[in-house]
Amino acid sequence: MNTAQPRPAGPLWLLAELTYRCPLHCVFCYNPVDYTREQTELSTEAWKDTLKQARALGAVQLGFSGGEPLLRDDLEELVAYGHSLGYYTNLITSGIGLKPARLEALKQAGLDHIQVSFQDATQAANDALSDTKTFAKKLEIVQAVKAAGWPMVLNVVLHRLNLDHIDAIIELAEKLGVEYLELANTQYYGWAYQNKAALIPTHEQLRHAEERVQVWRDKLGNAMKLLFVVPDYFEKTPKPCMSGWGNVFLSISPDGTALPCQAARMLPGFDFPNVKTHSVEHIWYESDGFTRYRGDTWMKDPCRTCPDKSKDYGGCRCQAYLITGDATQADPVCHKSPHHEKVVQFVEQAQHMSPNAGIYRVQKAAQQPGAAMTEAP
Ligand code: FES
Repeated sequence: MNTAQPRPAGPLWLLAELTYRCPLHCVFCYNPVDYTREQTELSTEAWKDTLKQARALGAVQLGFSGGEPLLRDDLEELVAYGHSLGYYTNLITSGIGLKPARLEALKQAGLDHIQVSFQDATQAANDALSDTKTFAKKLEIVQAVKAAGWPMVLNVVLHRLNLDHIDAIIELAEKLGVEYLELANTQYYGWAYQNKAALIPTHEQLRHAEERVQVWRDKLGNAMKLLFVVPDYFEKTPKPCMSGWGNVFLSISPDGTALPCQAARMLPGFDFPNVKTHSVEHIWYESDGFTRYRGDTWMKDPCRTCPDKSKDYGGCRCQAYLITGDATQADPVCHKSPHHEKVVQFVEQAQHMSPNAGIYRVQKAAQQPGAAMTEAP
């Protein structure tokens, strides 16, 4: 009798984090807080080889992200190559650096989708949150993306410092002709975890924003789709993070390190593999980094005996580690977790915080809220 387990499916989603370099310094950035430690970036040829290998394993969606992927001069070449392999290609960008000639080149390369991010609805608020003067440039870029014929997809990360501007944000999106507005409340990883005391909203802010989004949905109908993602910390059941560890998602960091999610690099006790030294097939099927939390055999209670474990996969390993110091714990967002009280405390403490500009993403020892902004390129 053959008792061999069937081989798991390959990755579906490949995220190419081309660089951690970025002209913006957002307080909620999910990049690693020590992102300057690793300065090397994969060559064009190494990226192409990675794209090819992942496609051969079944990946169909290819996202180009960062940092700011436009800072790579070979972005168009990589998009064209991904397109030629049959990927659906997606660019996740601040828009800064997206000049008309580049837009045209990306169009010619076959880019399927662009998502541009804004930080807020006004110049003052947008520029303060990113610590750069970028609002006016973003307005121009959004219009150019739309004129070039892509559907307009706008992303705004929400938190205590901008949730009260929800109407103005939606009005701005409407004025810009946005077809799809992603209102994603901050999830607390990387710089956002460091800045969480300043970013976690009040219950009242969140309730009001949800209510206003519904009013706008009723008003706008199909003219603009509004997605509102509630922050994890306000939930009682965990999100099925990454649709399960090593299940569909493969992220490649700028230096070639392969990760089951963008945040996993900070987990201790892992030696995540690199595409410079291992094949994507080995990484996906054999490496400890991708197999350790795949499936449910690693789980302990309460996840092990939970009827929802096949739906939520125990939640998020990175969140479990950040909050409990142990990545094998149930995600503390879950009300069944013995550590759920910590999440409740984070939220409760935030209710009494005075507004604070947070600490910026830039690693300058003396960086203070409100310090001089830099002009974007
Ligand atoms: Fe890493 Fe959820 S962000 S597993």
